[in-house]
Amino acid sequence: MKRVAVLTSGGDAPGMNAAIRAVVRYGVKKGLEVIGVRRGYAGLIDGDFVKLEYKDVSGITEKGGTILRTSRCEEFKTEAGRARAAKKFKELGAEGLVVIGGEGSLTGAHLLYEEHKIPVVGIPASIDNDISYTDKSIGVDTCLNTVIDAIQKLKDTASSHERAFIVEVMGRNSGYIALMAGLTTGAEAVIIPEVPVDYSQLAERILEERKRGKINCIIVVAEGSASAYTVARHLEYKIGYETRITILGHIQRGGVPTFFDRELALRMGVEAVNALLEGEVDTMIALQGTEYVRVPLANVLSTKKKLDLRLYELAYLLS
Ligand code: F6P
Repeated sequence: MKRVAVLTSGGDAPGMNAAIRAVVRYGVKKGLEVIGVRRGYAGLIDGDFVKLEYKDVSGITEKGGTILRTSRCEEFKTEAGRARAAKKFKELGAEGLVVIGGEGSLTGAHLLYEEHKIPVVGIPASIDNDISYTDKSIGVDTCLNTVIDAIQKLKDTASSHERAFIVEVMGRNSGYIALMAGLTTGAEAVIIPEVPVDYSQLAERILEERKRGKINCIIVVAEGSASAYTVARHLEYKIGYETRITILGHIQRGGVPTFFDRELALRMGVEAVNALLEGEVDTMIALQGTEYVRVPLANVLSTKKKLDLRLYELAYLLS
């Protein structure tokens, strides 16, 4: 194997750069030429390639976002689009492709292998942490640190004004970010798609606590469950607090990657190159406990990641 390519795709996640750096540096050390594909699958279709040397990735571990840039490419979702991408890839003369991204991007990688036999290895990167078979995806740790920092700040003003704050967080269809942020900030309630919400019961509980002297109330809602405005409409006049809404939005995707995300990304990058070199393709690198393992993409994509609902109970118990 002489030449491999790497791309980042879908929503960016802090730590993607560290993964790129590991792929490039480890690849070069193993005697490979590494080509970066700019703008994810859109760049693959356009043949937007750049050779990445050892020095091109210095100082990027600590940077959020992705130096290769990224896209959500509608054309790549079609068979014709993937055929165009495969043609460009073959013209490039690369023998392996590392895809760093979330579930949609990994689906694309799997289809490139199935339809065009392009040797792909996936690295899970998504703040949503909704990719199965891996305990953690790159970016979720940094994201959660951003979210809990924001909630702590909101708590200061919530207490000062004796208000309720409804904080909407990302996660697409997963409640992971909301649950973990709620658990670790002691939020009064967490509203997630995995658990149906009974607004009357919730309002009663919050009102009781208010009567007992509680001076603030934080409700964390996952975007996949309801909008913060809907939650406010259901609760505002029942809980005895003046209410404010905060939608954290894309701030959750940026920032300097934490130690955890850097280590995860660097080690996954190295393992992805090893998987390509050993021909174990159409796989994804996963963190299981303390081990980095290879899982067939078909398994990853056919299994929905489950939330540990014991943590939901715990969040409620400790609030
Ligand atoms: O998958 C990451 C994510 O940030 C989700 O949490 C969110 O629903 C989505 O991407 C937002 O996507 P976009 O940046 O394309 O609006």
